[in-house]
Amino acid sequence: MHASWLFLLSLLLALPITSPLALLSPLPTRTRPDFPILQNPPEADPPLVYLDSSATSQKPLAVLNSLTDYYSFHNANVHRGAHRLSRDATEMYESARDKLSAFINSPSRSSVVFTKGATESINLITNTWGRQNLGPGDEVVLSVMEHHSNIVPWQLLKQYHSQDIVIKFCPLNENNDDLDYEALAGMITERTKVVSLVHTSNVLGVTTDASRIYKIVRSQAAPEAGKGRKRVLERQKSAFWS
Ligand SMILES: Cc1ncc(COP(=O)(O)O)c(C=O)c1O
Repeated sequence: MHASWLFLLSLLLALPITSPLALLSPLPTRTRPDFPILQNPPEADPPLVYLDSSATSQKPLAVLNSLTDYYSFHNANVHRGAHRLSRDATEMYESARDKLSAFINSPSRSSVVFTKGATESINLITNTWGRQNLGPGDEVVLSVMEHHSNIVPWQLLKQYHSQDIVIKFCPLNENNDDLDYEALAGMITERTKVVSLVHTSNVLGVTTDASRIYKIVRSQAAPEAGKGRKRVLERQKSAFWS
């Protein structure tokens, strides 16, 4: 059989068998069976609802199975061994980078850096790019609805490495239910080097208008850092901006 047919066949076999009716049911009803933790205890009434995904995301069966498979059959050092297991682990690791790169629509596979969470990611940016590129008078724009993971790394950078950077906080609108986009436009100056904003806020539950932010920032010609953790969880493309 031709290789491309084999590939197509393997894709079809990998697809979950979902009836068209199931696809019409609400997303929580469709996704709940994928998460063993949400069936636990099975008789719970009302059923468990979990809303703390930014702190710790629950893992669906596909992830749990994949972890078990990895630790059962492939576990080895990535990029640091000449033996078969290490080669396999390296291939799996690098193919995950490709998949993730396509998933978040990143400009290239080398834009994907694996970290263990949001705090480590932003610390990495501030301690590498930040230390090298931010100096006295340079401005970093955040918002008043940021989580600590997007505030403290910038404050540490200011305190210990680049004392004269200016950290600005974009306010909320009059109703306190979204970012004040006009204020944001007014806060970006020729000294702005970074705009780092949460996309879906755990403080307000609001999802900001990312394309509007993008246009505001681009029109003011500031290189921006996007904080897109929640959107990745929600499978939103273009989660990170660079
Ligand atoms: C809303 C929100 N954002 C960011 C973070 C930080 O995430 P991490 O633990 O990956 O650094 C948390 C952690 O609790 C969080 O609740």
